[in-house]
Amino acid sequence: MTLTAAPLPKPSPADVAVRSLFTDPAVPADPYPVYRVLRDTAPVHRSMTGHWVLSRHADIDAVLRCAGAGKSLEAFIAGQQVPDWRRHESFTRMLDHLIWLNPPRHTRLRQLLGSVLTPRAVARYEPQIQARVAELLDPLAGGGDVDLLDVLAFPLPVAVIGTMLGVPCEDWPIFRRLVRDVTLCVEPSPTADQLALADAAARELNAYFDALIAERRARPRDDMISMLVAAEIDGESLTEGELSSLVQFLFGAGFETTTNLIGNGMLALLRQPDQLAALRAAPDLIAGAVEELLRFDASVQLTMRTAFEDLTVGDHVVPAGASMLLLLGSANRDPARYEDPDRVDVTRASVRPLSFSAGIHFCLGAALARLEGRVAFTELLRRFGRIELRKDAPRWKSNLTLHGLEELPVRLTPA
Ligand code: HEM
Repeated sequence: MTLTAAPLPKPSPADVAVRSLFTDPAVPADPYPVYRVLRDTAPVHRSMTGHWVLSRHADIDAVLRCAGAGKSLEAFIAGQQVPDWRRHESFTRMLDHLIWLNPPRHTRLRQLLGSVLTPRAVARYEPQIQARVAELLDPLAGGGDVDLLDVLAFPLPVAVIGTMLGVPCEDWPIFRRLVRDVTLCVEPSPTADQLALADAAARELNAYFDALIAERRARPRDDMISMLVAAEIDGESLTEGELSSLVQFLFGAGFETTTNLIGNGMLALLRQPDQLAALRAAPDLIAGAVEELLRFDASVQLTMRTAFEDLTVGDHVVPAGASMLLLLGSANRDPARYEDPDRVDVTRASVRPLSFSAGIHFCLGAALARLEGRVAFTELLRRFGRIELRKDAPRWKSNLTLHGLEELPVRLTPA
């Protein structure tokens, strides 16, 4: 008797798309074709690893605002299929992260920061941001060939958040690599090599910030770390874990994403010269243009939620306990929400990208990031009459979740 194995079911287009999203190193540079396949064929898709992958704007927006979904680091890691995750410092350091907490602790911690980062409070930093941009761009007044990430997109945001928190400026450069590496652990399916890099970076970051916090505890200054060391919730100080997590998260979230806004946004404009010209001709379009650039190529491509109860999403029931990956970058390109979504249009009306998320975890730094983006793009266009890309395909980082360029080589010609 001959036994013939039953043929394996053919993977669906969505299975193939998700596999490439999780494993193809070319995808972080341009995930949008993969998102299109998912939106068109299986917008609520249970992946082979167990994550539910959501790609439509309406579904993602609804889940972000829904009380039946929240945060569970453990459920997310189960979907990543990382065994024995407590061995990894990159994961354990996130246990107290604001972004992984649920109410009521989340609400209380957020209240601590709310007043510091409101649009009104942040507006006071505008002169300092202008001065920092001038300090960075004045030496380039004669133009020349530069990497825009090295000269502006990284040094501006790291200086802004570094100064607010009180992180010594001589140390800022090392954080470019450390934060890029540590965030590899929130990739949808990190490899062993990525986790090793993330863990090594986590160890360095923990040691650095523990020492800095101890120093501020001993000798407080007029900065946010000292403010958080002294802060109390219901008469109690933050735990050591909460304090270190909060400071590290604020610092990393404060620059990495904004670096990517300036880098990804400038690349998008350089690839659509008509839109660059439109913005040059009408600089007062800048606020809307920043929203459009945030939409077009979001610096946070995905976030996670866990179903706390059975949730009906589209035509599916996502069972309680399941981890969902919400593809914010795909929501922003959903043709059901935006006409001609794959084009930048700096005059587009009613752009409200999900790039800063929505609901109770809406980005606390949105006002600051928008302000930095406005100042950076305005000054670049005002000072340089021509900005040309020197490489058709600049290198991207291997991260998909925190999506940004590794380099942006340009030629600047003064106005
Ligand atoms: C273009 C720049 C930025 C982008 C695209 C961005 C994006 C995001 C996203 C998507 C989330 C929420 C994720 C979720 O719902 O799970 C978030 C949360 C957060 N962001 Fe940002 N961010 C940016 C800049 C900043 C800056 C400059 C700061 C700090 C000054 C910051 C601080 C935070 C904090 C504290 C949270 C946690 C909020 C919470 O969990 O309640 N972000 N950000």
